[in-house]
Amino acid sequence: MQGWLPLVTPRLVLRLPSPRDVPDLRRSFRDRRTARAVGAPLHSAEERRDPMRMVVRTRREYRKGTDLSLSVVEREGGRCVGRVGLRGLDWRYRKVESLSYWIDPLRWNRGYATEPSFFLCQAAFRHLRMRRVSSQALSENQASLAVLHNLGFVPEGRERRSVVVKGKAMDMLLFGLFPEELLPPSAVGRPPARG
Ligand SMILES: CC(C)(COP(=O)(O)OP(=O)(O)OC[C@H]1O[C@@H](n2cnc3c(N)ncnc32)[C@H](O)[C@@H]1OP(=O)(O)O)[C@@H](O)C(=O)NCCC(=O)NCCS
Repeated sequence: MQGWLPLVTPRLVLRLPSPRDVPDLRRSFRDRRTARAVGAPLHSAEERRDPMRMVVRTRREYRKGTDLSLSVVEREGGRCVGRVGLRGLDWRYRKVESLSYWIDPLRWNRGYATEPSFFLCQAAFRHLRMRRVSSQALSENQASLAVLHNLGFVPEGRERRSVVVKGKAMDMLLFGLFPEELLPPSAVGRPPARG
């Protein structure tokens, strides 16, 4: 799992998390909109308090070859604005259990999830020789569903009442992607973001 990292995309660099990311991660973790979108915080309370723990865990998972989660860093300015990952690398059947991503709410709706996800899925097929990539999104998470749809992910099922958020049961929608289905995002051509 090396040699092709970092991945450089038109506006972003995808690389292993580093201590340099900690101030930006700390700021992102304070924003509650991310947790609201997925029904619960994406990281443990310990990692939210001390993002360096997340950096260390991610690098350990990478060394073990179980997961590959990368920081999403703006080429212009070097700010860490989120994370995109291949969770659950199944080397036996050459499949990825979950494409995952979050982007700092200050940068939402600029194609910042779609752009790195496209290049990471491409790397999963080309460099890791994975056969398929799965992903999941809550039926209420419209932004995540749009990202998967725009990348070419194909709906494969619905886990009914999978998650209970504030007393409300929500369905989890299941998706899969094969190499020939991956679509280049139109967002890749968007101009560099400001502010
Ligand atoms: C999901 C998430 C990563 C998207 O990040 P982003 O950088 O805004 O994503 P992009 O800009 O690449 O694409 C967002 C798409 O969602 C669409 N979208 C955003 N909010 C929407 C809404 N309320 N209804 C419908 N579509 C919506 C955008 O229009 C865009 O689609 P388009 O390119 O066809 O116009 C971000 O919202 C996030 O971090 N959410 C919290 C974490 C999360 O949900 N992670 C995924 C599940 S674990």
